[in-house]
Amino acid sequence: MPVSYSNDIRPLFRDSPDIDAMQGYGLDLSSYEDVKTRASEIYACLKDGSMPCDEPWPQERRALFRRWRMACLLREFNVS
Ligand code: HEM
Repeated sequence: MPVSYSNDIRPLFRDSPDIDAMQGYGLDLSSYEDVKTRASEIYACLKDGSMPCDEPWPQERRALFRRWRMACLLREFNVS
């Protein structure tokens, strides 16, 4: 099954504090377009453990986000 934003990625973000806090910083984690556009920057934060600031994601969550991000990139460049 391909990784999808609505089924796999959106549920990783908590309504509070992830989504509401980050909306205050101009990043809407509940928006597919926002998360896709800023996926590399988001992944960097997840990977270095700086975000979420209260509790870094475990390795398997980071790996799932990375897989989704790679799939987005491949689609963008029309590679299958
Ligand atoms: C583009 C990537 C991101 C940037 C640049 C960013 C930046 C920030 C900044 C500047 C803050 C203010 C507090 C601080 O300096 O630590 C913050 C808070 C926070 N961010 Fe992010 N963030 C990003 C992604 C994320 C993601 C992906 C999550 C969740 C998975 C997240 C969850 C949070 C939470 C929970 C807080 C703390 C809110 C509070 O308790 O006041 N952020 N972020």
